[in-house]
Amino acid sequence: MIDLATYTPMGDKKNSDFFEEYLPRVYDRRRESGLNEIVGNTAAVVVQVQHGDAVLYMAELAAMGPYRLQTSRLTDTHKLYILQSKPEYPRLIVLEPLTADYEDNMTRWNMLYPLARSKPNARYIGEIYKASSTKAVREALEPQNIRFNYPGDSPNEFYAMEHLTFTFLSDFTYNRVGYVDVDLDDIDELGLGEPFNLTADEREKLDRAAALQAEHGIEGLVLGIDHLATRILAGDREHALLEYLTQVPYYFWGAYNIHEMNSSTNVTRHPDIGDDKLSPARVFTANNTPSIVNSFDNLPMPTEDFVRNFGRRMHHIAMAVIDGHVADEKNVDYVVRQLADMGTPFLAHVVGECKDDPNLKQIFSKSSPYSLLITEYIERCHNYEGFFTRDNVAALTAAAGADERYEHGHVFD
Ligand SMILES: [Fe+2]
Repeated sequence: MIDLATYTPMGDKKNSDFFEEYLPRVYDRRRESGLNEIVGNTAAVVVQVQHGDAVLYMAELAAMGPYRLQTSRLTDTHKLYILQSKPEYPRLIVLEPLTADYEDNMTRWNMLYPLARSKPNARYIGEIYKASSTKAVREALEPQNIRFNYPGDSPNEFYAMEHLTFTFLSDFTYNRVGYVDVDLDDIDELGLGEPFNLTADEREKLDRAAALQAEHGIEGLVLGIDHLATRILAGDREHALLEYLTQVPYYFWGAYNIHEMNSSTNVTRHPDIGDDKLSPARVFTANNTPSIVNSFDNLPMPTEDFVRNFGRRMHHIAMAVIDGHVADEKNVDYVVRQLADMGTPFLAHVVGECKDDPNLKQIFSKSSPYSLLITEYIERCHNYEGFFTRDNVAALTAAAGADERYEHGHVFD
């Protein structure tokens, strides 16, 4: 349990007076509005893929991590798939439009960005939080200028249901926050669509991917989501944090300045849980200077470049690898070696050393062709609490010649 009134955030990234003034006010207002009691842990994360990509994406997920398909529903506009890892961890919901020409306002955002427009319906949508009442959430947050989808606002009815409600796309992150007041495992309570079954061929694709993962000895080593990292523009850093902390009962854990990358990593976390995988940390990464002044000094700007190419969006989902060894190899090294054997491409190498002290080993996969998301694998050796280490940053900076540096970024958040 963290006392937000006395907690001193971690890290060396300096916040403005504006942020220091409003952060405690946001916490106070949250308490007064009852939001801390109304909203609980993460219930699910939602990813939309392009028409025709859902089964391929779920096969990729089955090969690379713990998520397995539980339930499929057909709505007027989408196929909806609910995947599960451990029962106590958030579900992963995959949305797939029924037609290639499906369009909503998210499609139109994607069309604005040069590297996003080839998959205009592929995007991480947002987290869904457990709530005691979706109506109570709206009543608490609407007076604070948080806007919610109402029926008819989107062709996809999923965003505005009686027991499931979503905010508008954030102007700072292009992510939404959702709230659900029924059990997502009991999809009938949600009243969403009709059940349908995969074809034998589709089922076979998923089973084969899961079997391949088991054959390679990875099954059980990749646990669940450790953190989720969105990339935003330099000027939006504090706004995005204050907005997110208004919407969910998280706290500002801290922010680190990554000088080598001219960037900062800003972490929010759930204050009342001992295991982030129950309600993953939300990370926001922003350049320190906007691209327009960057050219004076030619500093690195991978985060700003990413946003300019893809739009503000989720950059990676980090999967926790259980701390330990397979023979004399650290688990994350083993997992990555096996995945590489199976054909999963990675950016550079595993960074970080895990010996006797708490530390991190981490690596980024290349981005998925279906979700456009990178998967980070992170092994927290001896319960290391942070999200990167100075040594990791130094190692990555040394590897800066790698071809895909500016396209895909580095493990520095
Ligand atoms: Fe990360």
